[in-house]
Amino acid sequence: MPTLHWLTREEDLRAASRVPFRLLEEARDLSAGEPDSENILIQGDNLEALKALLPFYAGQVKCIYIDPPYNTRSAFEHYDDNLEHSKWLAMMWPRLELLRELLAEDGSIWVSIDDNEVHYLKVLMDEVFGRSNFLTSFIWKKSYGGGAKAKWFVGLHEEVLCFTKDMSKFPEMFLPPDPGIVRKYYKFRDEKFADRGPYRLQPLATTSMDDRPNLRYPIVLRNGEEIWPEKQWQWSRERSHRALTDGDLVISSRKGKKVVSYKQYLRDERGEERQRKPQTIIEGHYTQHGTYESMRLFGLQNKFSFPKPEGLVSYILEATTKLGDLVLDSFLGSGTTAAVAHKMGRRWIGVEMGEHAVTHCVPRLNKVIEGEPGGISKSVGWQGGGGFRFYRLGPPVFDAEGRIQRDIRFPVLAAHLWFSETDRAWNGADGSPFLGLHDGRAYGLLYNGILGDKRPGSGNVLTRATLGAIREKVAQAHPGFVRDNPDYLLTIYAEQSRLTPSTLEQAGITFKQTPYDVKVRM
Ligand SMILES: C[S@@+](CC[C@H](N)C(=O)[O-])C[C@H]1O[C@@H](n2cnc3c(N)ncnc32)[C@H](O)[C@@H]1O
Repeated sequence: MPTLHWLTREEDLRAASRVPFRLLEEARDLSAGEPDSENILIQGDNLEALKALLPFYAGQVKCIYIDPPYNTRSAFEHYDDNLEHSKWLAMMWPRLELLRELLAEDGSIWVSIDDNEVHYLKVLMDEVFGRSNFLTSFIWKKSYGGGAKAKWFVGLHEEVLCFTKDMSKFPEMFLPPDPGIVRKYYKFRDEKFADRGPYRLQPLATTSMDDRPNLRYPIVLRNGEEIWPEKQWQWSRERSHRALTDGDLVISSRKGKKVVSYKQYLRDERGEERQRKPQTIIEGHYTQHGTYESMRLFGLQNKFSFPKPEGLVSYILEATTKLGDLVLDSFLGSGTTAAVAHKMGRRWIGVEMGEHAVTHCVPRLNKVIEGEPGGISKSVGWQGGGGFRFYRLGPPVFDAEGRIQRDIRFPVLAAHLWFSETDRAWNGADGSPFLGLHDGRAYGLLYNGILGDKRPGSGNVLTRATLGAIREKVAQAHPGFVRDNPDYLLTIYAEQSRLTPSTLEQAGITFKQTPYDVKVRM
């Protein structure tokens, strides 16, 4: 496959694996609202922050939206946007690699970009995500018009490149009905189906479908009057009859002829709103809206330079995520993606290296928790609630020789070991030496006296007793698996083993010694 070359390419290809895994340290004074809302704001360089997230979130993120610096040669008030072209590519490559690892199998990544780098970015993303996973490049119409001073043309759009992690697993996309269409056409209400919201009238007759003689029949009214279609009806005789009896057909007169319409409700029988497909030109959410939203949040003096309008981000999240899904933006700017995800009931992770993580993102998200009414709040009925934790990057998890730092907590080491063994995020329970089951093998960790015995050379040592305790946890968590595979394989990390090599072999146990056998995954 043809690839893009730039000066430091070879080095940049290794950059993501060279970045150390760092701890994330919470700054409690900046966290807000309900601490268990599972929303995370990180201040720091996203290369290190994304790496720190991997053991906990690899393969978990449903939608990534990023709006990286476009390399427009400008110095904005809050960040610089003037990197030498190769440096921009060098900056993007390792970050895209890590973002890909964080994406769920059925997830997607959307990247805002403009003419300065869009074509190079497409080639980079082809290589990182695979050409076959390219979904489309959306045109975002960013302004209504204007540009009287433009020399050659009036630039009205930017692009949003969209790749899936795996096209074969990417689900269909839908959007709720367009509010403009709802206002204009869904004007009627029916007492009988109040829970299905308003309805519009649609003609039952059609002239555009193939000729189907069985769809040509009379609709017989209660007084015996027969109404025939010009060509044919859209529905079968039985369906039309049922709709007529149920009061779902409306008969009116047009130019002296009887016309039959059916009621199309805003919500279907299951109470779900009728949906539409996203179009490749995104309109109606302009830069001006973003600036106005920022001004309302931070005042004229403090507004952020060119934040994205909330409507644009909600369009993307609406099409690609459901309630509770995890959304990530690693170039968070003034916090738009986090604010939108929060209001839409999605979990979110935001990363921003600038001081505006504190001066803009934190106050904005505090306002969101309090129920601020701007942006998409009205359209999603946002009332406030939830919370987030604020983190900064801490020291590396492993020292220069690859040894675990002394004071690493159990869940952090557990997540790293699990990730290095399985390539997956760890979401096991803190407080148990059994980390999880993967590909028919169970994993255990004896560390920090997890079984309640912190004496040196005791609770962190593999003995018959500690092995029994781990096996008991495996059986509790997966009784069916243990019943069907009584001789299952087990990898155990511990300080020492008192079991002989032949006992270990007979019991199907791979013993790995902490800290020596703990390998940092590159
Ligand atoms: C175009 S702005 C994003 C604006 C955002 N979409 C909004 O609506 O406010 C890009 C942001 O990426 C941040 N950024 C650039 N490089 C970064 C890095 N390596 N790590 C974290 N943030 C970075 C900049 O500080 C800037 O705030």
